Amino acid sequence: MKIDILTLFPNMFTGFINESIIKRAIDKNIVEINIINLRDYSHHKHNQVDDTPYGGGAGMVLMVDVVYNAISSLKNKDTVVIMMTPDGVVFNQKKAYEYKNFKHIILLCGHYEGFDDRIRLLVDIELSIGDYVLTGGEIPSMVVTDSIVRLLNGAITEESSENESFNNNLLDYPVYTRPREFMGMEVPSVLLSGNHQEIAKWRYEQALKRTRKRRPDLLVGDEVNEK
Ligand code: ADE
Repeated sequence: MKIDILTLFPNMFTGFINESIIKRAIDKNIVEINIINLRDYSHHKHNQVDDTPYGGGAGMVLMVDVVYNAISSLKNKDTVVIMMTPDGVVFNQKKAYEYKNFKHIILLCGHYEGFDDRIRLLVDIELSIGDYVLTGGEIPSMVVTDSIVRLLNGAITEESSENESFNNNLLDYPVYTRPREFMGMEVPSVLLSGNHQEIAKWRYEQALKRTRKRRPDLLVGDEVNEK
């Protein structure tokens, strides 16, 4: 998979692509991530990329021609262009699983007051990471990239992503490691029993209990009501 991130602030991505699982996935050629400066696609004087809004108002607006130049020179027949914006559809784990099948993603990050509205016509998906406003699309694009890359084959051990929160509409079950007892708090004895069937049953029940308490909105079918 290839992910091109279009941004006015490429330095924000230095840590992101040079650490941990993302770095490993890049090194193993599981994903190619290119951090691309939008300014390189400006044909304006001083490489201008934004301007004041027509009709007045605060802030600067990202220019449509600059974004058009960038997208059209990077795009091929497999490309999906995603624009990060708080007024897009809200990202979730189901979408991460869907997007991991894309061959080439362009993630467009805005900054300042926003995008010239005609930019929306150049993109396939307008995507938000939640109902709050950040200073730009850089952190949202990292959130989306991270959640997709860790699902790609070979990025992490498969078991880690199979049994995690939001799969099967459930939050994660509780996990423990040594010590067995800490300040009077014991690890649940079933986990020490060696009985894998009982452990699986306990984990499912705990996940269900936790989801009912914290996120009942996630539950579907029989799981909604306590038996
Ligand atoms: N840009 C600013 N806030 C955002 C959000 N919540 N999601 C996506 N892009 C954004």
